[in-house]
Amino acid sequence: MDGDLIEVVNRLQATFSQVGGDAVDLPQIVTVGSQSSGKSSVLETIVGKDFLPRGQGIVTRRPLVLQLVHTPPPLPPTDNSTSPNPSFSTPPAATGPTEYGEFLHLDKRFYDFGEVRKEIENETLRVAGGNKGISRLPIHLKIYSPNVLNLTLVDLPGLTKIPVGDQPTDIERQIRNLVLDYVSKPNCVILAISPANVDLANSESLKLARAVDPQGRRTIGVLTKLDLMDAGTNALDILTGRVYPLKLGFIGVVGRSQADINSNKPMEEQAATEREFFRNHPGYRNIAHRCGTKFLAKTLNQVLMNHIRDKLPDMKARLNTLMGQTQQELNAFGDSTFLGEQHRGSLILQLMTQFVRDFVASIDGTSLEIST
Ligand code: GDP
Ligand code: NA
Ligand code: MG
Repeated sequence: MDGDLIEVVNRLQATFSQVGGDAVDLPQIVTVGSQSSGKSSVLETIVGKDFLPRGQGIVTRRPLVLQLVHTPPPLPPTDNSTSPNPSFSTPPAATGPTEYGEFLHLDKRFYDFGEVRKEIENETLRVAGGNKGISRLPIHLKIYSPNVLNLTLVDLPGLTKIPVGDQPTDIERQIRNLVLDYVSKPNCVILAISPANVDLANSESLKLARAVDPQGRRTIGVLTKLDLMDAGTNALDILTGRVYPLKLGFIGVVGRSQADINSNKPMEEQAATEREFFRNHPGYRNIAHRCGTKFLAKTLNQVLMNHIRDKLPDMKARLNTLMGQTQQELNAFGDSTFLGEQHRGSLILQLMTQFVRDFVASIDGTSLEIST
């Protein structure tokens, strides 16, 4: 995810926590699509870690609520630190133990993301059984890292038509209701996944997204498996918005094939493969800059930025109230023994005010009056 956004959000959250309160209620990002359309693969590339079970047939059988938690980066060595305030500088690339996963159901830190995947598989088996059953009971996983935004992503079982294994006869309706529980929240960004090798008219994800977001305001269309389209066909019309209208558009991606997964192809290698695919493809060459996983991450950043901007008037009002309260409490301490405390308090107010002004100016070029 983009460093600037991480910084902005983390500073906002730090600012608000100084005066008590949550800064921004960031939207949840939810993947929706038919089975094996590539939902888990897309989510993984957004996080940039290899940790989700993926594969043919039904693999994701419980919702996975994945909470990314930003942790402070390890302090850089003091001798070559040039930033006056290291905590606000761009975090360095994470190394080893600064990144780990933790499950709600288990008191253990996972430093190996392959182990995280095994635990998801075991936990799925434990609750949903071994014969393709589905459970509504979510698995809660937190990933701690200096390189992530405080954000929640949800991976859901795929939409299906026909019961298999232990699945009940009304499996189609059950999964649909489960997905609806997540995507009907207005504060949810829908990644509507459709595989490019199936006609878009059959897209289950777009059908469902349209039901809860008829204007297409919070739905990003993601077209997977562009590498698997029939020779002589391409998805240019879809990607350029001429087939189905979505305000946030369609983004094409090329993820790892099953053979790539089986041979443990690293994510970075796939990123290069994907980039080359779009650059060299005669149909996509001209829109290559608007394709691929990296552009998807960028679009998500933009959506989150817009969301934050929409919430700014409300944040401003809350800040004013909180600051007013803080000021009153400080004024109530007339005693000089509290002078030290009071000084510290007003310093925080100044920093906050300055920060929010800078922040607003940086994202929409206008200034915001905050009374202090
Ligand atoms: P989900 O069921 O929607 O979560 O889909 P998965 O992420 O588990 O992927 C299903 C299968 O499709 C896996 O075998 C993936 O390797 C494969 N897959 C996903 N995306 C792509 C892609 O863009 N290209 C190719 N060739 N295979 C993909
Ligand atoms: Na699958
Ligand atoms: Mg899946």
